[in-house]
Amino acid sequence: MSSPPPNKYQLQPMETIIGKDILVASKLLEQGELVAIPTETVYGLAANALDENAVIKIFEVKRRPRFNPLIIHLPSWDRIAPYVTDIPEAARLLAQRFTPGPLTILLPRSSRIPDLVTAGSPKVAVRIPAHPLTQALLQRLDFPLAAPSANPFGYVSPTTAQHVFENLQGHIPYILDGGPCTVGVESTIVDFEGERIIVRRKGGLALEEIEAVAGAPVVLRTAAEEHPVAPGQLRSHYATATPLFAGDLRSLFQRHAGKKICIIAFGDNAAGLDAWCVLQLSERGHLDEAAKNLFAVMRQADRCGADVIIAGLLPEKGLGLAINDRLLRASAEHLPHGN
Ligand code: TXA
Ligand code: MG
Repeated sequence: MSSPPPNKYQLQPMETIIGKDILVASKLLEQGELVAIPTETVYGLAANALDENAVIKIFEVKRRPRFNPLIIHLPSWDRIAPYVTDIPEAARLLAQRFTPGPLTILLPRSSRIPDLVTAGSPKVAVRIPAHPLTQALLQRLDFPLAAPSANPFGYVSPTTAQHVFENLQGHIPYILDGGPCTVGVESTIVDFEGERIIVRRKGGLALEEIEAVAGAPVVLRTAAEEHPVAPGQLRSHYATATPLFAGDLRSLFQRHAGKKICIIAFGDNAAGLDAWCVLQLSERGHLDEAAKNLFAVMRQADRCGADVIIAGLLPEKGLGLAINDRLLRASAEHLPHGN
């Protein structure tokens, strides 16, 4: 019988503790273990980005394909030098204005970043999260943290420590509890081509804000636009187990008449619709509040016993773009790539 490959991480059941102790978290990370960390966007599943054996565990626990690269997290922009070879002027400008915050920047990587982190790409994704607990943790560490969202691959991202516990208990030793995430959708990812700013994922930093600082329109080039797929070919992502449909709320309601329908509502868009269950993203119709509530509401919708979840699309401005993107990716009928 051949022995297992040396780096293969065995998924041993382990006790998962939820706590607020950054000393415990930093010790575990220094020992090559995984720790779930709070950020203002979503919770991340973190490991020492410079330790390939630790990073492998992220892919194993998340069941994430190895070709999908990870973001590295640092406490401040001035710690970035060892990990990149060049910083375009536009990147500097955005970093100065929007970090710490819900922005991820793609930069040419140095050889210190393992191939596994970037999935072989010549660029590394860098983020400076603003959450105070994770800021304090990162300050203590002398390595960056590689961290994807702390959900099993394909499922809804977590925005509370409890969400992480529900999904990953028994597989990671520690969840650093920083309360509910204040932004609620993942970071906006930007790339640079010459002077141009390319947005690769719509997220918690609104495109209007980036454009105001850049003084020029950004180019939107997300995975869905680069690799359009025919409906039905790929599993949807950010997906609930209960089928979810996003689009025109009233047509969806009619189409699913006779079923137990859960409506994900925004403001008064579900007025007069008599559904099995109605969950609000934002009573007042505020996009930032809707983003903050989105993933918790999707998880709740998944548990309410409905046959189907329907959601109307939100106004295409501010964080509405990121919310619509997540709803459409979760939708059973619209199936682009995701994480
Ligand atoms: O808000 C966030 O960004 C959260 C928190 C935890 O920081 N993280 C997050 O990570 O959403 P994840 O792995 O779920 O999504 C990261 C996305 C993926 O779509 C990945 O393909 C892309 O970033 N990405 C990472 N590194 C990249 C690279 N070198 N080039 C292109 N895309 C990259
Ligand atoms: Mg993700």
